[in-house]
Amino acid sequence: MKTSSSFVSGITEVLLKEQKFYRPSAKILKSAKVKKWKEVHAKASKNPVKFWEEAAKELEWYKPWKKAFDGSKAPFYKWFTGGKCNIVHNCLDRWMGTPVEKKTAIIWESDNGEHRKLTYKELNKAVCKMANGLKSLRVRKGDRVAIYLQNIPEIAISMLACAKIGAEHSVVYAGFSAHALKTRIQDGQAKVLITSDVGHRRGKTIDMKGLCDEAVKGCRSIRHVVVVKQDGVKTPMKKGKDLWYHELVKKQSEICKTEPMDAEDPAFILYTSGTTGTPKGVVHVHGGYMVGVNRTFQWVMDIRPDDVYWCTADPGWITGHSYIVYGPLLAGITTVMFEGVPDYPQPDRLWKMVDKYKVTLFYTAPTLVRAVMRYGDGWVKKHKLSSIRLLGSVGEPINPEAWRWYHKFVGKGRCPIMDTWWQTETGMFMIAPLPSMPLKAGSATLPFPGIQAEVVTLKGKKVPVGKGGYLVIKNQWPAMLRTVFNNPKRYIETYWKEIPGYYLTGDIAAKDKDGYFWIQGRSDDVIKIAGHRIGPAEIESALVSHKAVVEAGVIGKPHPIKGEIAKAFVILKKGHLPSEELVGELKKTIRKELGPIAVTDEIEFVDKLPKTRSGKIMRRVLKARELGQEVGDVTALAD
Ligand code: WTA
Repeated sequence: MKTSSSFVSGITEVLLKEQKFYRPSAKILKSAKVKKWKEVHAKASKNPVKFWEEAAKELEWYKPWKKAFDGSKAPFYKWFTGGKCNIVHNCLDRWMGTPVEKKTAIIWESDNGEHRKLTYKELNKAVCKMANGLKSLRVRKGDRVAIYLQNIPEIAISMLACAKIGAEHSVVYAGFSAHALKTRIQDGQAKVLITSDVGHRRGKTIDMKGLCDEAVKGCRSIRHVVVVKQDGVKTPMKKGKDLWYHELVKKQSEICKTEPMDAEDPAFILYTSGTTGTPKGVVHVHGGYMVGVNRTFQWVMDIRPDDVYWCTADPGWITGHSYIVYGPLLAGITTVMFEGVPDYPQPDRLWKMVDKYKVTLFYTAPTLVRAVMRYGDGWVKKHKLSSIRLLGSVGEPINPEAWRWYHKFVGKGRCPIMDTWWQTETGMFMIAPLPSMPLKAGSATLPFPGIQAEVVTLKGKKVPVGKGGYLVIKNQWPAMLRTVFNNPKRYIETYWKEIPGYYLTGDIAAKDKDGYFWIQGRSDDVIKIAGHRIGPAEIESALVSHKAVVEAGVIGKPHPIKGEIAKAFVILKKGHLPSEELVGELKKTIRKELGPIAVTDEIEFVDKLPKTRSGKIMRRVLKARELGQEVGDVTALAD
């Protein structure tokens, strides 16, 4: 699709038929933080930097910034330069000695239904102890710490402990394999890895420590592996290298000074998949990130002090970073963490938990809505869900049918749905409604105040209303990524080169007559399986690692529940013949190399793959053929 300079056609035309407005109720309007949204949008767009400066003043700084925005070394933009702060100071320290310290910070429910609660005071203590523990392992400001944990409180504690002492966490989603973990550790040169003995899923246990042992083989940067004891199963521990988390923290002081950081110092890196090659280590910083996350979270989710907020994502993804851990703690509210899955032991697990914990804000992904829809309305109808005030959606386009079901059965027709469009790279919501705005089923509505988004051709020309084009951001925002870890060139080439001056999102979108945005999906080859972002190149390289495979091309294909699934086209080496058995083996190889999240549903054996003259596989040709669409510009095709 990238070769076309004209419009992009597709489902946007269909989606744009959904023009019915869903207006906020009087009750929502009355309590909304932002009531006059048009005025707020207009004011922010006149002077976005001033808008973000005002947002920054809502947080505490050790030293005020000198310059709110510095674009002199574009695209290496800086925010709040000269300012000193720490995101953890604003998540925890700031609440100590105030009424918030007694409030529940985290409610955690395990796969098997047990629960734990931590007040802000308890969380702060746990973070201080772990921060001191990390220091005792000689982790210093500027070092990286890899975290490979499921959705348990220790993942949040570890992230906060790192940021508190100025170390950068690099969380790797626990659904990735040992091999994927290893490549991420090696790229980031992490000194310590934090994991657990086992993980849990649908009543089964996963040998997390075993995976980590395999991952750290040959990772010379790793000095220690810290292991959270979940089940107390017999776990081989390497003397001097492996330590139990509880033993490490037991001897530590409950007091630990938070490191004053420059606003532009990195807070964390998070690996995400792109079109080609290895995953990119997206770098986020302390200052701008906390400002962007706090303002967007407070306004879009319309935060009230007594809110109990539940985001069903995993902390291993950006959604979990910004809006399970940092956003809610910056706002001083209660965040729910859930180790389990929505349909275990029964398909009403989520709704039971909503009623049990009196969740007021529920934020999830379209794939999950579609998955629970499949079980019928009965499961959700059994539950009152009267505590919910607002719903949210993220990760992929929400189809109008799922939107309406979510609105009717979960929101009981009363709760607005905040469809939030954003990315690992943006750090915060970019296109999203405010609760006082009228909504349309399937649209993320308008750019957040201060954000200038547009739909353009690859030449940077605005496309007409209703036509598909490339989604770009025309200005800068505080929570934007600062670079790709160790690869500034890749940062420039991926995001800033194609259309000079604009941030290229990699998404296709259209705008309707009201200026509402309709996101269609990726314009590059990135695949979204059940909302999880997977690079085709990673699946291809997993396939090629199998002895029978010469070459492979992988594409995303629409799927009614998961949004997309991966399909692989594989060329076999001479002497190897296609068989069901081989398909099974290849699937196993992908699982081993990348993990269960990269499951590739379809594998087709082919003799040839469409390639450019320079030998690059043209995935868009494969995809167009597979979906029976027009192939488009094929001048680059070799054959
Ligand atoms: C997609 C997740 C439509 C989009 C926060 C984007 C969405 C990619 C939405 C980033 C949404 C995210 N509507 N599409 N509300 N939210 N996306 O980095 O394609 O895992 O580029 O960040 O998800 O995925 P990532």
